[in-house]
Formats: sequence, structure tokens, C-alpha cells
Amino acid sequence: MREYLFFTILILSACNLPTANKFTGDSLSFLTQETNSSETNEINAITPPTKPISIIPMPQKIDKRDGAFIINAQATIRVPADKSWHKAAAAFQQKIKKATGFDVPIQNDSKVQSIVFEQDSSITNPEAYSLDITKRQILIKAASAKGAFYGVQTLLQLLPETIESSTVVKDNWAVPCCNIWDEPRYVWRGMHLDVGRHFFTTDFVKRYIDLMAMHKFNRFHWHLTEDQGWRIEIKKYPKLTEIGGYRNGTLQYIKDGEEHYDGQAYGGFYTQEQIKEVVQYAADRFITIVPEIEMPGHSLAALAAYPELSCDTGPFKTATKWGGFRQVFCPKEETFQFLEDVLTEVIALFPGEYVHIGGDEVQKVSWEESEFCQKMIQKENLANENELQSYFVRRIEKFLNQKGKKLIGWDEILEGGLSENATVMSWRGESGGIAAAKDNHDVIMSPNSHCYFDFYQTPDKAHEPQAFNAVITLKKVYGYDPTPDDLMPDKTKHILGAQGNVWTEYMKDSKQVEYMAFPRAIALSEVLWTAQDQRVWTDFKGRLIEHFKRLDVLGVNYAKHVLK
Ligand code: ACM
Repeated sequence: MREYLFFTILILSACNLPTANKFTGDSLSFLTQETNSSETNEINAITPPTKPISIIPMPQKIDKRDGAFIINAQATIRVPADKSWHKAAAAFQQKIKKATGFDVPIQNDSKVQSIVFEQDSSITNPEAYSLDITKRQILIKAASAKGAFYGVQTLLQLLPETIESSTVVKDNWAVPCCNIWDEPRYVWRGMHLDVGRHFFTTDFVKRYIDLMAMHKFNRFHWHLTEDQGWRIEIKKYPKLTEIGGYRNGTLQYIKDGEEHYDGQAYGGFYTQEQIKEVVQYAADRFITIVPEIEMPGHSLAALAAYPELSCDTGPFKTATKWGGFRQVFCPKEETFQFLEDVLTEVIALFPGEYVHIGGDEVQKVSWEESEFCQKMIQKENLANENELQSYFVRRIEKFLNQKGKKLIGWDEILEGGLSENATVMSWRGESGGIAAAKDNHDVIMSPNSHCYFDFYQTPDKAHEPQAFNAVITLKKVYGYDPTPDDLMPDKTKHILGAQGNVWTEYMKDSKQVEYMAFPRAIALSEVLWTAQDQRVWTDFKGRLIEHFKRLDVLGVNYAKHVLK
């Protein structure tokens, strides 16, 4: 029988039927679709070896079987009619086309489809999927297209790392036969990017989103406004980007008490058209963008543009150094009108259910010294400036809720009393998150003990590019459990998940962002996806070494030494 097969292959090759390297299996797979099962078994005997199964984040259940499905030029896709399912299939088609050159069509009417997407309403989790791979077929089942998209991400990791190539390469496109069942542990699997301290092009933001999608993240927290730069076009207030989008130099170092600046104008912003494009790009990868518009603090760039919104008398300049600043939004009617106008434009751009309003590190000196604020504290029967911040947040929350959006803020929004429906992003450790969950508020854990990827990643700081002073190693990230032990089971449901934060004071370019975010974001992806009792550090390390090959093909500037 084996002789018969080789003979057939030779004839097919001679007939100019799809060939490729015999041992890539291309022509073999063509045969599997045409032959009976006993022949299929024989083919299996000469199927070239597949790569070991090594997937990050680790799926819940993998049953390995013998043999492989070979993707070739004859492969076709069947997909449910719904448009969103086509997005999931397109994610696969595009990768296959780029790396293999095969144009795998969607042919719902054809008799034999080798890659089948199927809607299965018995699956209850919309992000879950099953993958059933035999020599004849790849079957991806999910309740929704989102789950199917995660199935595709896993499928891609079952292929050789060259599947990530942006140009056609010759390889053995073998997918090991297996059965995978998978669903995430948390619904919020986030990564953040600060584009205020340093600005990053939409091309890079898309690449960041691609890397997130590959690791099954589903929220991109886009930190769009800062003291050092306002990065989103607001049509009603053009000075926000004309003035606030730029700064006149950046502090380089301090020597003998003297600050040294580079004297170079620095800036940039995203037009609304660009934002829409990125929002769509993320949506095509089942990632929701959470825009952050900082208030009342971290607003110096906005106040440089519109100084009348401060309690102090301007003019002000967009910040040229890092740290906190006295100038914050003053809680006047004029300011609320401005912020509601800004948020109205933001809401129109971002279809997700959440808007992040910052709320962290608000210096309240200008409020303490302002006659207006002190009168307001009395009039509104508030105890102090913290409660004035709560008043501020509550007003904004009411506005957002009326517009059908939910408010998220950093954990400082707890300080003067939390507004009714707010979700808390806990960054100063977990205590804010725990308090909020006990009070029945939803929480995203992003503690600076585990989730700050702007901190050094090894204790050997002398050999690292400048970063924030503390150290968060890959192992530390991997060891994180976002659900605190001391929360009662009826409160743990409020822990929606966690998020990695990438503050960019010391990340001047996209290469440095990649270096700081990866591989720590990859460790976090497993924390967020995989069941806690299934995570084993030594096993993860082994899979990560394999995974690095994939990042190499993608040209990711990940920190290579962190496993040593
Ligand atoms: C923060 O790191 N200030 C949220």
C-alpha cells in the first residue's frame, strides 16, 4: 500500500497537480481527501512529524491523537452566514495566505470543506471554543464568532511558527490531530498603552493589538490624555491637539540639582478618522478599546490649551517632565460643559461599553487654595477635597450612564466615596479593588506589584535600559492570581480580570515598548485565561521558549534574557 501511495504521488507530481515538497505533505493531504480510510491510515504512516503541541495561553484540555491534518492549496472553509463569523475565518485566511501562499476560499456550497466553523449553542461561554482536528478536517465549534476567533488563535499555534511570516515560505503546514476544549478564566483580559508620555503611530498600535489578539486579550486600554500630551482630536476644541498635543522639550536628566532638557518639540495626535480605523481594526480581532480621558488630574496638556478650566491663572505649558502637577481641572460648570462635550465626541468614536476617566494622583492644592472650590465644598455639603473629587466623578458618571456608558476609574475614585455604578481599576496594590468588590463594584486588578510593565524586569538594573525603580520579573507576573484569597465567593464575581499597564515615560519608541511588554504580557495572558490549578511555571517556561520562535518570525523585540 505504501508503494502505491508513493507511486500515486509521483504521478500527481508529473501531472503538475499541487506538489510542493513531498515531505511538506501538501500533495499528501490532497490525497487524504480522495482516498478511503485504510489508505488514510497508510498516509498517516508517512505524515511528516508535527511540531510538539505548545500553546500559550494554555488551553483547558488537550487530547493529542496520532497523525496530522495538512493544510494545502485545496483547503476550503465553511463558516456560518453571520458576518462576525466571517471575521473569525478571515483571521485564519489572511495568515494562511501570507505565509503559505494558499488562497483558502470560503465555499459553503462545496461538498467537502476541510476547515469548518460551526456555531454550537450548547456551549454556554461566548468566548469558549472546541477544536477537533482529524486527518480529514479541522472543526472549530463555538457559541459565538468570538470563541471561534480564539479557536483560530490556538490553531495558528498548532502550526509551525513560520505561519507568522509576512511573506510566503515553504514549510510543513501540518496541524497535529487533537481535540481541544478551551474557555477563559476571566472576562477582562487587558493591556494598556500610555501614548501621552510618548506617542506611537497607528501602525504600531495595530501591531500591539495583533500581539494582544494572538494571546487572547480582549481589552485595549488606550491612555489617550496626559500632562505631557493630549492625543485625540476633539473637533469642538481644536487647541487640545494644536497646543496640548505638543510639548516644548523633554527632561533628559538632573545633575547637581539642575534639570537638562533636550529642547526638541515633541508631539503627535490621532485624528478621529485614525481612531475609527484603529477601533475597527481592534473589533475585527474581537478586542474592545477602552479610551481613557484623564480627569481631574493628569490634565496639564488640556489646561495649556484651555487655561480657563483651571482654578489657577494661566498660561500653562504642556508638561516637559514626569511627575505630578498642581494644575488640575477646576470643578466649575464651564469645565463640566467642556468635559461633557469632549466625552460626547469620545463616545461617538468608541462603541465599547466603558469609558475610563482616570482619577488617579490628583493634586488638590489648587482646590484647597481656591475660593470657588471651598465655597463649593460648603454648598454641596462635602467634607473635604476628596469628596469634591467624588462629586466630580459622580457628575461625570451620571453623564456617561445617561449616554449608555459605564465609568471606570483608578482606585483613587474610592477616596471620597464611590459613585454608584463605577468600576474600579486597582493599581496601588489590591486593597482598593478588594474594598470595591466588597462594596459590590466591579473591579479590574492592575496592581503595581505584578502588572506594571514599565518597572524593571530583572534585578540586574545596571544592564537594563532605564525603567521605573521597582522590579517585576516574568515569574512574578506568572505567579499572580487576580482573585484575592480574602474575598468571599459571593464577591469574587466582581473581579472581572486584570490588566498589564505600559506607562511610557522611559519608552521612547515602539521597540522599547515591545521590550518591556513582552514576554511579561504573555505571562499575564496565561494568568487571565488558564485555570489557576493548571498553571505551572516550569511548564510555561518550556512553552515560552518554543513561543519565542513565533515572536522571532514576527520580529518582536521581546526581552530575551528574562528566563535565564
Ligand atoms: C497610575 O499608575 N497612576 C494609575
